[in-house]
Amino acid sequence: MPPAVSPNVVRELAAVVGAANVIVPGDERLVVFGTDWPGRVQQVPALVVRPGSTEEVCAVVRVLAREGLPIVPQGGNTGLCGGAVPSQPDREVVVSLARMRRILDVDTVANTMLVEAGCVLQQVQQAAAEAGRTFPLSLAAEGSCQVGGNVATNAGGVSVLRYGSIRSLVLGLEVVLADGTRLDMLSPLRKDNTGFDLKQLFIGSEGALGIVTQVSLALHPLPVETVTLMAAVESAGSAMAAFERIAGTFGARVVAFELLDAASVDAVVHHIPGARVPFEHATPFAVLVQLEDTLATSSLASQAEALVMQLLEDGICNDACVAQSGAQAQALWALRENITESLRGIGRVQKFDVSLPLRRIPQFLTELAPGLTREPSLRLFVFGHVGDGNLHVNVVAPTGTADSAVEFLDDLVYGLVSSHGGSFSAEHGIGQLKLGAMRRYKDGHQLRVMHLLKNALDPRGLLNPGKVLPA
Ligand code: FAD
Ligand code: MLT
Ligand code: ZN
Repeated sequence: MPPAVSPNVVRELAAVVGAANVIVPGDERLVVFGTDWPGRVQQVPALVVRPGSTEEVCAVVRVLAREGLPIVPQGGNTGLCGGAVPSQPDREVVVSLARMRRILDVDTVANTMLVEAGCVLQQVQQAAAEAGRTFPLSLAAEGSCQVGGNVATNAGGVSVLRYGSIRSLVLGLEVVLADGTRLDMLSPLRKDNTGFDLKQLFIGSEGALGIVTQVSLALHPLPVETVTLMAAVESAGSAMAAFERIAGTFGARVVAFELLDAASVDAVVHHIPGARVPFEHATPFAVLVQLEDTLATSSLASQAEALVMQLLEDGICNDACVAQSGAQAQALWALRENITESLRGIGRVQKFDVSLPLRRIPQFLTELAPGLTREPSLRLFVFGHVGDGNLHVNVVAPTGTADSAVEFLDDLVYGLVSSHGGSFSAEHGIGQLKLGAMRRYKDGHQLRVMHLLKNALDPRGLLNPGKVLPA
C-alpha cells in the first residue's frame, strides 16, 4: 500500500515546522504517539507533526485539509478514552502541541494568564504560584497533561467543588478550525455578551471541532491556610453523611472530598514504596478532604479538628487523621493520586467514569456489587471525586481475559447509572472507547444537534474522526 502521506506533502510540512518536527514512518516514536496512556488503543499514525506556533498550526492544517488527511490533535496523551490517538492505523496525522509551551502573559490585577495550549498543567500552576496566585485545576496527570488537552476534555480533577472544572477557569480561547482558519476568542474580559459564546463549544469537544492553540485562564488568590484530613468510614452511606456535615459547615472552603475504597488503597500500598494507611484498623472506605481559606481570620485547622471530633462521636467515621505538616498532607494525597498508576499493572482494567446524584451513590454501589459476581475473577476498585458525584469504578480482570468475558460490564454499570439518573462519562469524555455508551445512552435529539455542529465546522470530518460522535 502506498504511504498515506506523499513525500511531497512531507516536504511541504517540513518546510513549515522544520524537518526535525515531522516524524515519518520507520521512526519508532510513531508507536509511542499512537498508544494511549492505559495501553488500550494502539494505532500507528501515518505521521506526527509538531508545530511551534499558531501560525504553523494554521499552515499545517491547511496542507492536511487540502490533502483530505485526518487530523488527531494530541496534548500530553494522558487521556483515558483513546481520544488523542488515531482510530485506524497508518492513515491519520497526529498534530502534537507539545512544542507550544510559552506562558505569554500573567496579569495580577485582572487575575488572568495567557498561555499556549502545549503548556503542561504543572508549569501553569507553577507560573501562577510565582506570581502569588493559584491556578487551581489539579489532577494526578498534571505533570504530563497539557492545558489544551485539559480544555479539550473539560478536565475536572480534585478541586471541582470549589473551582469547578476547567470550563469555569477559561476566559478566552484561540482555536484553529478544520480549514486552517484561526478563530480568536482570546479576550479575557469577564463580561462579553456579544452574541453566542463560541468558546464554550470547543471546551470539552475533544479535538473534534478545532485545535486549541492558546488559552486565557482565570487565576485565584493563593490560600493562606490549607487543611488536609483523612477519615475512615464503614460505608459509602457514612461517607456521604460526612460530606453533608463537612460541606454544610465549610461551604465553599471545601476544595476536595474524595472517596477511596479499601481495594484501591491496598493497591497503592503494594505499588508505591513508603505508602502507608494512617489508621489502626482496616476500613472499607476512607474519605480524603481538603479545606482552604484565603483569609487568615480564623483557624481553619482547629475548626476542622472540632468537626472531626464530632463525626467520631456521632459514629459517622471511626478513625481520622488531620495532617500536621505539608509532608503528612502529601502522604495522604499520595494514597489517592497513585491509584490509577497502581491499577495499571495489575491486570486488564475496565474503567468507568460515572457521575450520580449524591443521594443515589450508596444505593448504586450496593446494587453494583452483586452484578459482578457473575465473573468470579473480577476485582472491583472504587474511588473518585465523590463530593461532586463523580465515581471512578474500575473493574480489573486477570491479564489476557477475553473481551467477551467482560462485555456484560458496560450494560451492568451504565444500566445502573442510567436508572439512577447519572452520566456515563463524568470527566474523561468519550474518545473512541465510549462510543457505544454514547449511542445507547445519550439523548437522540442532543446527538443530532451535535452532528449538525460537527458538520457545520468540519464538513469533511477531518478532525479527530472516529471520536466523540457515533457514526
Ligand atoms: P490528550 O490525552 O493528549 O488528549 C485528550 C483529548 O483532547 C483528545 O481527544 C485530543 O484529541 C484532544 N486534544 C488534546 N490537545 C488538544 C488541543 N490542543 N486542541 C484540541 N484538542 C486537543 N481527567 C480528569 O478530568 N480528572 C482527573 O482527575 C484525571 N486524572 C487523571 C489521572 C491520571 C493518572 C491520568 C493518566 C489521567 C487522568 N485524567 C483525569 C485524564 C486526563 O489526564 C485528562 O483528560 C487531561 O485533561 C488530558 O490532557 P492531555 O493533554 O493529556 O490530552
Ligand atoms: C482520577 O481521578 O484519579 C482520574 O480521573 C483517573 C482515573 O479515573 O483513573
Ligand atoms: Zn478523576
